[in-house]
Amino acid sequence: MLVLAIETSCDETAAAVVRDGREILSSVVSSQIAIHAEYGGVVPEIASRKHLESISPVITQALREAGVAFSGIEGVVVTRGPGLSGALLVGFSVARAIAYACGIPYVGVHHIEGHIFASFLEQPVAFPFLALVVSGGHTHLYHVEGFGRYTTLGRTIDDAAGEAFDKSGKIMGLEYPAGARIDALARGGDATAVHLPRPMINDGTLRFSFSGLKTALMQHVAKHPVTIPGQAASDLCASFQRAVCDVLESKTRAALQQTAAARLVVAGGVACNSGVRSTMSRLAAELGIELHIPGPALCGDNAAMLAVAGDYYLGRSMFSAPDLDVTANWEMDRIKENFL
Ligand code: KG4
Ligand code: ZN
Repeated sequence: MLVLAIETSCDETAAAVVRDGREILSSVVSSQIAIHAEYGGVVPEIASRKHLESISPVITQALREAGVAFSGIEGVVVTRGPGLSGALLVGFSVARAIAYACGIPYVGVHHIEGHIFASFLEQPVAFPFLALVVSGGHTHLYHVEGFGRYTTLGRTIDDAAGEAFDKSGKIMGLEYPAGARIDALARGGDATAVHLPRPMINDGTLRFSFSGLKTALMQHVAKHPVTIPGQAASDLCASFQRAVCDVLESKTRAALQQTAAARLVVAGGVACNSGVRSTMSRLAAELGIELHIPGPALCGDNAAMLAVAGDYYLGRSMFSAPDLDVTANWEMDRIKENFL
């Protein structure tokens, strides 16, 4: 099946054409990051307006690069939530309109469901597996038994990992989003230089907390201001990144033990992080389990990732109703609401 996928949940307008939930014929991502960077974070109203401007050219480009016309598309997949309501609404309305005009079905998917299955575009993973999702809005552990069959094992009680990177970067004077920059600076730093807490690391639960880590970093910077670039900044970035990785490793290890999962999928923008990637590689090797982390282009927000679950649902006639609406806050356990 040839599927058109559309993603507008946050600050990237994305469209992709994917065959059989496997082969990416095109994947176009138009980022608004430079516009939001001026404000130190995503401004919802601006995000909606930019999606409106970009959505049509982005879809046109995706079709052109794939060498297909609307008449060749057999189904539409779109992010229904979670995300910014106004932003979601742009992609969702366009997806429904295309489906209606072309007389083809469409299905809404969960943004995090998209992230989890991004790995499948490189290599399918056998079920069941454990998924660690680390993005700007999520730090979640899921037991994944199949498409649409997700159990939340643990989640952050405050900031998400990406949020911790972005807020800590802001404290150090870095532009939004700061994750990639902290990662780069950390490469020249000593991860043992600054003592930072590992919140809730030994509390015996699968819950995460990152706001205390950010506060500790803020207190450190208040006493020891950093200049970027510089050795002190690199040491602080390396120490911060190590603290995040230690917590992610400890909770993921516990979840793997609890579920006896033989496979681990790591997904979301923070899965681009070199420390996260090496930490998870080490953990997987130590425990003798399979590890799947997609390449950087598939870790960040994109539309192609939505087509994996989307193709599965459309292929089984699991369509969304014409009057379905977006939903800004939405747990993966309620995925069944998507279908007619
Ligand atoms: O998945 P994503 O593109 O969007 C959301 O769904 O949130 O994730 C964006 C997050 C941002 O917080 C960004 O700072 C972080 O991913 N990020 C990184 C790196 N690259 C992106 N964090 C740490 N290290 C990186 N290399
Ligand atoms: Zn995302």
